[in-house]
Amino acid sequence: MIAHKLIEKNIGLLIVLTILIVSVGGLVQIVPLYFQKSTTKPVPGLTPYNALQLAGRDIYIREGCVGCHSQMVRPFRAETERYGHFSVAGEFVYDRPFLWGSKRTGPDLQRVGGRYSDEWHYVHMMNPRDVVPESNMPAYPWLADTPLDSSDIQKKMRVLKDWAGHPYTDEDIQGAQAMLEGKTEMDAMIAYLQVLGTAAPKAK
Ligand code: HEC
Repeated sequence: MIAHKLIEKNIGLLIVLTILIVSVGGLVQIVPLYFQKSTTKPVPGLTPYNALQLAGRDIYIREGCVGCHSQMVRPFRAETERYGHFSVAGEFVYDRPFLWGSKRTGPDLQRVGGRYSDEWHYVHMMNPRDVVPESNMPAYPWLADTPLDSSDIQKKMRVLKDWAGHPYTDEDIQGAQAMLEGKTEMDAMIAYLQVLGTAAPKAK
């Protein structure tokens, strides 16, 4: 009781003890996640993005698609009926940075891989109104005539391998530049969209 009074009357002590308690509480919540298998182990079938998909992902980031599209299916009926199985942590172990997003002007894209053909995506990116008349998504026609820059792809993959432990083989990295040879930014973007969610857990 005396200690309580002392703390309540001493604002400095109250601040220090509050920070201490909040920090311990935070650590107790956060630290175990680093060691929990379900958050650090890839879901079955998940592989790191290949060179073309990785380049597409960087263009997705550059073009700000995350400003209108989330990549996170929440565990609610309305979402799982529309998009498929809700997102689990193990699907994101090769996502650096995460592109979960929070704005949904357009639909969630985490499960979009395989939903449409490559041709559909091409037409949609060139002019969304050609396939979805009421769409307010911007067109991205320059992706189709911009050759893919392959100069730093090997370095990117090496950094992901050495610093983040993505299991790329030496052949993956050596063959990276050849994989991007003659490709456009559109090819890379479509390759990226088509792999999204392909290792998703199956709906029960
Ligand atoms: C201003 C907001 C906005 C931006 C920015 C945007 N989109 Fe969209 N997107 C939408 C809307 C709205 C739809 C739904 C209508 C449609 O299909 O066009 C959509 C639909 C889509 C779909 C079809 C999803 C489905 O399940 O039917 C894909 C794929 C897509 N967008 C990819 C992209 C990519 C890639 C980028 C970045 C290059 C991007 N979008 C940027 C608003 C946006």
